[in-house]
Amino acid sequence: MAIRFEDIKEHIGSRVVWDDREDIFTPEAAAAIRAKVEERTVVVFPEINLTDAEQLAITDAMGGTVKLTARNNVQQNDDNVYQVTLDEKINPQPEYVLGTFFWHMDGITVDMPPPFATLLSCRIAPAIGGETEFASTYAAYEGLPEEEKQALEGLRAVHSVRASLSPIADAIPEKHRERVLGIGLIKEHPLVWTHESGRKSMVIGTTADHIVGMEVPAGRAMLIRLQEWAAQPAFSLRHKWTKGDFVIWDNTGAMHRAIPYDKSTGRMMHRTSIAGTEAVAA
Ligand code: OGA
Ligand code: MN
Repeated sequence: MAIRFEDIKEHIGSRVVWDDREDIFTPEAAAAIRAKVEERTVVVFPEINLTDAEQLAITDAMGGTVKLTARNNVQQNDDNVYQVTLDEKINPQPEYVLGTFFWHMDGITVDMPPPFATLLSCRIAPAIGGETEFASTYAAYEGLPEEEKQALEGLRAVHSVRASLSPIADAIPEKHRERVLGIGLIKEHPLVWTHESGRKSMVIGTTADHIVGMEVPAGRAMLIRLQEWAAQPAFSLRHKWTKGDFVIWDNTGAMHRAIPYDKSTGRMMHRTSIAGTEAVAA
């Protein structure tokens, strides 16, 4: 039997339905899931309870694993699977995870094509907080009035790790602060990404520091307004995690963020990424 998909909201999100769990792991399923991620931005597998090996197999079958975050963590699991956690026994440097509380795209400051997709398995669901939200920048761009689309034409934004950490900079112990903020990854991207498919999305989020050639306050205000536009309910989806849920999203056409959670909840997510094939292009 093949897998089936059900829409979650009009512009974003599909849920996978299967009869036999094994149906998820076929090459046909990998192709169908990839196409669905491109079409619907977020694909949810409720309570599928993947092992690391199974998650890596799906990641590879859908386009190949790419390692994103430098492993400062002290982990016991598969080296290609990053544990997203505030547990300081595993993650002694919480800044990166605290940074996920703000809208962002993964890997946008790194010198490689942005990862096509991010995959998260929920190992420990928090009782309070810790949902993940997704905002489709394809749908958001599509929904802009024509004159605003034209105003974005040709604009470029500078993205940096420093900008993405600025909302949490005060929480970084002073003796580490300059070193952490000084991670010098900076990259300029077109604000509107015209994909090889011809579809357009926006490259926005907390990594975006300013717009090239615009006064900094006006550029920042524009970037924040675009974030707010994309985050409106019509274009976004909030996923409340149940242990075992697995979610894949199109990192090239969406921002995402975690609703804040406390480390005492024990929240634990296992993350992989699918390599990107396209650099951001205007
Ligand atoms: C990440 C991330 C979101 C979450 O690990 O890059 O954004 O809900 N995670 O944990
Ligand atoms: Mn992320």
